[in-house]
Amino acid sequence: MTCNILVGGGWGDEGKGKCITYLCYNDKPDIIARAGVGPNAGHSVEFHGDKYGLRMIPSGFVHTGARLLVGAGVLVDPEVFLYELDYLDKYNVKERTFADYRCAIIEKEHKERDRASDHLFKKIGSTGSGCGPANSDRVMRVAKLAGEVDEMKGYTADVPLEVNQALDEDRDVFIEGSQGFGLSLYYGTYPFVTSKDTTASSAAADIGVGPTRIDDVIVVFKSYITRVGEGPFRTEISQEEAEKMHIEEYGTVTGRRRRVGIFDMELAKESCMINGATQIALTCVDRLYPQCERVKDYSKLSMEVKRFIDEIEGETKVPVTIISTGPDMEDTIDLRDEL
Ligand code: GTP
Ligand code: IMP
Ligand code: MG
Repeated sequence: MTCNILVGGGWGDEGKGKCITYLCYNDKPDIIARAGVGPNAGHSVEFHGDKYGLRMIPSGFVHTGARLLVGAGVLVDPEVFLYELDYLDKYNVKERTFADYRCAIIEKEHKERDRASDHLFKKIGSTGSGCGPANSDRVMRVAKLAGEVDEMKGYTADVPLEVNQALDEDRDVFIEGSQGFGLSLYYGTYPFVTSKDTTASSAAADIGVGPTRIDDVIVVFKSYITRVGEGPFRTEISQEEAEKMHIEEYGTVTGRRRRVGIFDMELAKESCMINGATQIALTCVDRLYPQCERVKDYSKLSMEVKRFIDEIEGETKVPVTIISTGPDMEDTIDLRDEL
């Protein structure tokens, strides 16, 4: 049995959706469990030519043999949850997607409070998805839970019980985080962060799995770095420079233009340390080095790319095991066998 966690190493949008799709489709875990804050996330999944943008349902849905669970630590917006069940209907998600009955619920009023708040929406640049106000209500112990609301009837479960039983029976579990290290309420660029810790330890706690049961922690980095919303950004470059390098980006949820910078080695080292990374997945290598677009074989990468990978491994002391050379699941170099 294995229980692996994947988390973002930057300010979110590292390409977790793509890496999760690849890992789940290939490794076929029995349970794929979503951790992280809630529907402030926007994961992109490209699979066999189709593109999906997801906020709540685990990105590993393409592996149709898995149960898809949302951990108790994650905020659930029933509107988004039910919309995505319809959206992904052809993957039979209605029969196999469940949220823990203890998930706190995002109500309309939370979204209104988020968007009307000068502090959250304007100063911090929140996604307006209601996560901050809902987590604040949860801390105040006034939030509703999934087990109490009609919209979630038929879609709740005891997630830690299922996950720990699966591990006891030698089955595999994959935990997908959302957001990224730099947005952690504890370790990120406070106050320009999200409403919760986003590191691997919290991802395990979100699902109800103890730290002793985790095998691998995969931290995802993009070959450059982006940030949406406000806050410090050590290696930021101008939009003109980003355009010249063809690395400009727009958000999945909000459509906002992402701020862009060059790879931040200091942030990567800290992120690997605090997450307890055992592996690194490096994405968007093709955007920085177009000659390696869709390359699937390590030996076909240019010397420049190999040097970049060696530098990351040398500085972080963590092996780069997944190299993503395009948005589609297939555009992946998998070096895990060489560990
Ligand atoms: P959050 O949960 O919101 O933090 O998002 P995420 O980490 O799932 O990333 P998101 O999908 O928001 O952004 C990553 C973008 O890069 C998406 O448009 C992906 O399709 C794209 N992408 C991911 N990997 C690659 C890659 O290797 N090459 C290229 N060209 N695009 C990629
Ligand atoms: P909130 O989580 O909506 O309160 O937003 C707080 C900060 O985190 C803002 O800067 C958002 O842009 C950022 N943020 C939250 N979720 C994500 C994500 O999934 N990707 C990228 N940035 C995010
Ligand atoms: Mg995103």
